[in-house]
Amino acid sequence: MGGSRKVGAAASAAFHTDLMIAAWLAIALAMLAVTSMSARAADSALSQLDQQCLACHSAKGLEMKLADGDKISLQVDGAAFAKSVHSKIGCAVCHASTSFENHPPIKTKIAGSRAYSIERTKVCDTCHAAISKLYEGSIHASLFRDGNTWAPVCTDCHSPHAVKAKAAYEASTGAPCSKCHDPIFKAYASSVHGQATLACSSCHNAHDVSPATTGDQLKNACLGCHQDVLAAHQKWLPNAKQHFDAVSCPACHSPAAKRKVDLRLYDNVAQERVAEKEGVPEFESRVRSVDAKGAGLDAMALHSLLRGFNREGIDNKTTLRGRLEVSTGVEAHQLTRSAQAIRDCAKCHQQGADPFQSVTVSIVGPDGRPVRAGAKPEVLNSMISVDSVGGFYAIGGTRIKLLDWLLALAVLGGIGAPLGHMTVRWLFKKYAKRIGGKEDS
Ligand code: HEC
Ligand code: HEC
Ligand code: HEC
Ligand code: HEC
Ligand code: HEC
Ligand code: HEC
Ligand code: HEC
Ligand code: HEC
Ligand code: HEC
Repeated sequence: MGGSRKVGAAASAAFHTDLMIAAWLAIALAMLAVTSMSARAADSALSQLDQQCLACHSAKGLEMKLADGDKISLQVDGAAFAKSVHSKIGCAVCHASTSFENHPPIKTKIAGSRAYSIERTKVCDTCHAAISKLYEGSIHASLFRDGNTWAPVCTDCHSPHAVKAKAAYEASTGAPCSKCHDPIFKAYASSVHGQATLACSSCHNAHDVSPATTGDQLKNACLGCHQDVLAAHQKWLPNAKQHFDAVSCPACHSPAAKRKVDLRLYDNVAQERVAEKEGVPEFESRVRSVDAKGAGLDAMALHSLLRGFNREGIDNKTTLRGRLEVSTGVEAHQLTRSAQAIRDCAKCHQQGADPFQSVTVSIVGPDGRPVRAGAKPEVLNSMISVDSVGGFYAIGGTRIKLLDWLLALAVLGGIGAPLGHMTVRWLFKKYAKRIGGKEDS
């Protein structure tokens, strides 16, 4: 029974297909006659073969049904293709599996529209191997490998039939990035760089896009264009280099943003941020074991967390390094003219200053992006964590008062004046020794 029904179905499908092909051939012949006159002039850059493909594929409404019930349009804009960088290559080179002889119909079932793009886009690698290699190292490719099928592949950023030369990527529309990062593009458009029509790729690159908050790619991009910037800051900002390391550029240059502190697990021996080992994510489970309720790490919990990381091997191998940054990706793109940037030391160097009211602890996750856990602001003030938080971020009460005092001195002494600087440095050194002494005893 079941067998005969199948046979019947197959026979009717075959009949259907025959009809379809007959219909398409008729359409193709008719279209060829019409298009060959009008289109030949416009598409004269195209070979005879390509024009034959287009005889069917320029038809509006030509669709293909996929296994999941979806349909994709099979219409290709011949005029745009003729103007594209690939017009000389021709359709058949990229579509070797879809020749006149073997289609329509398509013999192998196509699962869905995304699966289709992912399969077909592989052809790009055959001629652009170097770029493909760059892309493979990107956060986008890494997300893709981790199963995020919506992370961009080549054809999400380059329309395959209308690829234009490099100069055609429009900063004014944010293309191709804005297609997926529209809120960021909207924020960016009115920023200093958006107005200067810099493309997203001038900071992030186009292919080797790296995670935004790990590594130095972005800071180096800033410094690559603004070469004298360290010297410019040194004129008014003591320890400018240290500020550049511990405060993200947008934290001062996006003045309306909400700022926060991220305490990063840091490997003192390897001199780099601690990363999750491939396949054994420990951070989240360790956080859960010291903060079962998920209320945010308090000082004791943070201490235990660090002890956990330091259990095997060298003492104090793993510590924390603070970084002051903005809270959201949108805020990172609202950079203003520098006259509006934060210059007021008290915005940060004051007890209870608001960047210190929001704290996270983070590790580098398997895809290179940070994995974060919330912490209570008290971890910055507690003596238990002074040891691990270290430096400026352990802003215990006495520390902050002393810092206020020093700042007053620095301001009185005139920030730009060498005497002021030296006094501040000398006092800080003395102070650092005192803290050090306390910790030893
Ligand atoms: C007679 C009309 C006709 C001609 C000529 C034609 N196609 Fe098609 N093509 C179709 C139809 C109809 C489908 C959908 C088939 C299906 O649904 O099974 C299709 C599907 C496709 C697909 C999508 C499926 C896949 O394998 O990726 C591509 C790509 C394609 N054609 C490229 C070409 C190229 C390249 C040429 C020229 C060498 C060409 N076609 C010539 C009618 C035509
Ligand atoms: C540089 C390589 C390349 C060339 C040249 C090329 N294609 Fe494609 N084509 C692709 C890729 C890749 C896809 C898959 C796009 C996607 O869905 O992401 C595709 C998809 C298609 C589809 C399916 C519908 C769609 O747009 O996704 C059709 C039909 C098609 N091509 C026809 C043609 C025809 C006709 C020509 C010549 C006029 C041509 N192609 C030239 C790479 C190419
Ligand atoms: C996230 C978006 C994005 C993805 C994914 C992407 N590109 Fe690009 N690509 C761009 C942008 C934007 C440019 C313009 C150049 C620039 O701004 O540096 C570009 C430029 C190019 C260029 C010409 C310029 C050059 O740098 O030589 C080629 C060739 C290219 N891409 C091929 C590819 C291939 C092949 C893939 C897939 C492996 C791919 N692209 C994936 C965005 C992307
Ligand atoms: C058969 C080889 C071949 C394939 C396959 C191919 N390309 Fe190209 N591509 C070229 C050639 C040749 C050029 C022209 C280079 C030039 O003019 O310097 C080019 C140029 C480009 C450019 C513009 C380069 C520039 O300097 O502005 C982009 C972007 C691009 N290709 C992307 C893609 C994408 C995306 C795919 C897959 C859909 C793809 N290519 C598939 C050969 C190929
Ligand atoms: C097809 C969709 C798509 C396109 C197009 C696209 N992206 Fe992405 N991108 C994603 C997804 C999905 C993520 C994962 C993070 C997320 O959900 O925001 C991501 C992540 C990123 C990240 C890392 C974020 C982090 O947390 O560190 C950066 C940076 C980035 N994209 C920049 C770009 C740039 C620059 C372009 C254009 C050249 C671009 N993207 C184009 C989908 C896209
Ligand atoms: C002037 C340099 C610059 C330009 C241009 C730029 N970005 Fe960014 N982008 C940054 C910085 C800096 C960060 C945040 C880094 C940090 O917090 O340390 C960032 C972060 C991101 C993130 C991660 C956001 C998150 O949630 O953590 C994405 C996605 C992103 N950018 C996409 C884009 C897109 C899309 C464009 C174009 C519309 C763009 N960027 C233009 C500098 C830039
Ligand atoms: C502590 C806050 C702070 C940090 C951190 C900071 N800036 Fe600035 N920046 C300012 C202020 C305030 C000005 C304006 C100074 C003036 O006008 O005298 C400025 C000025 C500038 C200017 C214009 C100066 C010129 O040469 O004309 C640029 C460009 C700049 N910053 C880039 C950066 C970059 C890149 C980073 C990160 C590597 C950064 N800034 C980090 C506060 C900061
Ligand atoms: C591709 C080069 C380029 C990169 C990369 C770049 N900028 Fe810029 N930046 C510019 C240009 C161009 C302007 C606009 C100058 C103007 O309009 O006066 C500008 C303006 C600025 C200004 C305003 C300066 C003023 O005088 O008001 C600041 C602040 C700034 N950039 C900070 C940054 C930061 C922070 C980064 C990294 C996240 C960065 N820039 C990356 C080129 C760049
Ligand atoms: C956006 C916040 C912010 C602003 C504004 C700011 N700082 Fe800082 N400053 C920091 C952070 C964070 C550190 C810690 C660096 C570290 O521990 O690595 C720091 C470190 C310092 C240090 C070194 C202290 C130490 O413990 O080693 C001095 C001195 C200092 N800042 C002075 C100033 C002065 C003077 C101003 C105003 C002209 C100023 N800062 C503006 C955030 C800021």
